[in-house]
Amino acid sequence: MAIGTAALGLLALLLGCSGNSAEAQNSSKCVLSGNWTNDLASTVLFGSVSNTGVFSGVYQTAVSSSGETIPPSPLQGIQHQRDNATFGFTVYWNASKSVTVFAGQCFVVEGGKELLKTVWLLRAEAASREDDWGATKVGTNTFYRTK
Ligand code: BTN
Repeated sequence: MAIGTAALGLLALLLGCSGNSAEAQNSSKCVLSGNWTNDLASTVLFGSVSNTGVFSGVYQTAVSSSGETIPPSPLQGIQHQRDNATFGFTVYWNASKSVTVFAGQCFVVEGGKELLKTVWLLRAEAASREDDWGATKVGTNTFYRTK
């Protein structure tokens, strides 16, 4: 009986069913607090995350619709507090009449590195209702932790 159990344990280990699979190793409770940069070289600082998942921060974008430099801009967000957490945050652009909403998920990849895969919608101010159709941009960004 003991030998049978040991054999089953060995088989489970060989089949990767031991509860220590690659998937389990790649999951970790992401807390967004800290410094991040994205594929556009924008930088973001997320402050502390409250016990309800709420956080605020500051976003410095490397690019803008006008081509003008945008000063550091405030953001408000909320995250789930679990492995590979999903989150959302809104940036209120200083010196621009636009806002961007980001939604994303945190992943822990090789070497324990964290990255945030996001999709965003940027809403610009339309001069009139007739111009509404062209006032939204959509895109994706990946963020990497720097601190
Ligand atoms: C604007 O152009 O009106 C404000 C700046 C918008 C910057 C956008 S938000 C989505 C994308 N990701 C970035 O890091 N910057 C751009």
